[in-house]
Amino acid sequence: MHIKQKILKEFHANPDQFVSGEYLSQACHCTRTAVWKHIEELRKDGYRIEAVRKSGYRLLGAPDAVTAAEITAGLSTELIGQTVIAYDSVASTQPLAHEAAGKGTPEGTLVIADQQTGGKGRLGRKWHSPQGTGIWMSLIIRPNIPLPKAPQLTLLTAVAMARAIEEQTSLPVQIKWPNDLLIGGKKVCGILTEMHAESDRIHYLVIGMGVNVNVTSDDFPEDLRQIATSLRMETGRVLRRASLIQAFCRHFEFYYLDYLQHGFARVRQEWEQKSYSLGRVVTVRTLHHTIEGKALGLDQEGVLLVVDREGRQHKVYSADIDY
Ligand code: BTN
Repeated sequence: MHIKQKILKEFHANPDQFVSGEYLSQACHCTRTAVWKHIEELRKDGYRIEAVRKSGYRLLGAPDAVTAAEITAGLSTELIGQTVIAYDSVASTQPLAHEAAGKGTPEGTLVIADQQTGGKGRLGRKWHSPQGTGIWMSLIIRPNIPLPKAPQLTLLTAVAMARAIEEQTSLPVQIKWPNDLLIGGKKVCGILTEMHAESDRIHYLVIGMGVNVNVTSDDFPEDLRQIATSLRMETGRVLRRASLIQAFCRHFEFYYLDYLQHGFARVRQEWEQKSYSLGRVVTVRTLHHTIEGKALGLDQEGVLLVVDREGRQHKVYSADIDY
């Protein structure tokens, strides 16, 4: 772990308190001069750090940065988010996550960028990812489950992110099948799951998440203003992105470990509770046909059940849905 990261961990472990230079030099295995240099670097990164002779250093304020140091400091998970690969600006975090996964990065690694210039959405769409305003990240996991169950992890991600957003904003979040998160009927988060697998074995999943955190109405292109929103627009507050990422990691880890041990039941139940889709009349467009009907629920496997006007039940695995 980098020294700056270690220093921030100590600040988070001792909130509002002075931490002595001596203590930091021991915790970081470096000299006190090195500590001082890294404190200066942290200040340049936007951290407000008070230094008082004989007392040491105290953290007064942190920037809204999505760096490895900010995300891992105070992170309470064992697995998810313990490794963070952070960039300022990239085309998309998805191919970078595939590359890192191919090189053997640990399960739970987050690949994150402050800006994406070619963000990818589902079904070949673009994902608008302006600088410094959102969470544009890809999570790598390596579940030992049969291939057909992989879509369950997208539903699990939606539940975990919905929980994290509710915890941080106190606003109710709904999930539109399969993986859009809505507040007040407008989209606040999208999820794009990609998989690397062969025959029946999953090598890894890359779960891409885009959360409109501090995006303003002016930041959205004209065509998105009616259908998209952000946490800032809904709460009237600027949120700290790293806190939301940490909350997501905690919730994801909880549901993921439960899922691996006990199966899909908990996620299914929570997904249905938060569902925007159930009970609604939907138009389902798959590659081959269009079905109009009412969304009934998820089956044991996480497949959406839709009943049409003739009372025939359809299983929807992958499709675009209109309401
Ligand atoms: C959708 O609703 O269409 C899915 C949007 C997924 C966007 C995220 S942002 C981080 C990751 N990198 C990308 O290029 N896309 C996903």
